[in-house]
Amino acid sequence: MSKKSSSKSSIYPKDLEKETAEAELDRFLAPEVEEEEEKVEVTLRPQKLKEYIGQEKIKESLQIFLDAAKKRKEALEHCLLYGPPGIGKTTLAFVIGNEMGSTVKVTSGPAIERAGDLAAILTSLETGDVLFIDEIHRLNKVVEEILYPAMEDRAIDIVIGKGPGARTMRIQLNPFTVIGATTRIGSLSAPLRDRFGTIFNLDFYSDGEIGQIIKRSAKILSSEIEKGAVDSLSRRSRFTPRIANRLLRRARDFADVRHDGTITGEVVEQALEMLEVDELGLDKGDKKILLTIIDKFAGGPVGLDTLSAATAEDRETIEDVYEPYLLQIGFIERTPRGRKATRRACQHLGNTHPDDLQEKLI
Ligand SMILES: Nc1ncnc2c1ncn2[C@@H]1O[C@H](COP(=O)(O)OP(=O)(O)OP(=O)(O)O)[C@@H](O)[C@H]1O
Ligand SMILES: [Mg+2]
Repeated sequence: MSKKSSSKSSIYPKDLEKETAEAELDRFLAPEVEEEEEKVEVTLRPQKLKEYIGQEKIKESLQIFLDAAKKRKEALEHCLLYGPPGIGKTTLAFVIGNEMGSTVKVTSGPAIERAGDLAAILTSLETGDVLFIDEIHRLNKVVEEILYPAMEDRAIDIVIGKGPGARTMRIQLNPFTVIGATTRIGSLSAPLRDRFGTIFNLDFYSDGEIGQIIKRSAKILSSEIEKGAVDSLSRRSRFTPRIANRLLRRARDFADVRHDGTITGEVVEQALEMLEVDELGLDKGDKKILLTIIDKFAGGPVGLDTLSAATAEDRETIEDVYEPYLLQIGFIERTPRGRKATRRACQHLGNTHPDDLQEKLI
């Protein structure tokens, strides 16, 4: 998924600047992290399990695993975190590390190109360290094979020499824990998935939980926020903490520049209207997808590739970024023949569902 910069440059001629700004607004709600955002996210990230809001079932079982591992003075068993972008996987990985008092080393699937790179990382781990592998579904096959014995037997096999004289040497590793994160559990190979002792599926947050996250972040950012503003922001946050924090920061900018700094319900309404985020948190991108299904494909079903070509959005972006929320709020349906827009989506957009149109004609 593409990362984008949120910084505007004034070296652009005026109309290009406008175009850049429009492009930014288009993808304003994309749940993947923006470049500048990374720094802010670090300050807003909960450090301990009790600061981590929501995901109650996961926290409960995690607490038991943590207590058991600490009691036995062992490394925690390997765990896999999966869920949509911005839902709190990286945050939870660091929380686990902090709770264990461990050092967290961070890498990602695409960053490890060769088997040797992973071997170097693994042999440098000290007892109790956590190795966080982001986007673990993107590890290549050769690298993945090094990981199997490392996770299972805490050892790696290195081939020394070439041809008939080659021999394998087994290197024992210090006890460590792998925490993998992925947005696509289906793309993970079965052998890799099986090597995780626990798999946690992080789900969307409730409006109430998102509200708590917004209040907590406002406090850290030393911003006054009214209850009406919290409610209004929560409803538009697509049940996702990253988006909640992003909307909060934009509303805060708006409150600072146009008002006296207090984030009121009205400030939020004005700020989000300017950003073209509607009352359900849909932006231009979502609307483009829904309207394409409704207008060009008579409400669907339409295959993912066709939809991707018609909207000029790539498949992965539709699947990972737009669809999870649209499915969650019942605006699209996945059928074996493709995606369909629901009556609910049509009503929200002020359209008549194509099926109802035909009924009227008959
Ligand atoms: N449970 C939570 N409680 C409070 N804040 C949270 C929680 N989960 C996430 N956040 C906030 O949301 C931000 C984004 O979360 P995070 O980076 O962990 O998402 P992610 O699932 O790793 O996303 P990606 O798939 O893009 O890597 C964090 O910086 C943090 O401030
Ligand atoms: Mg992450």
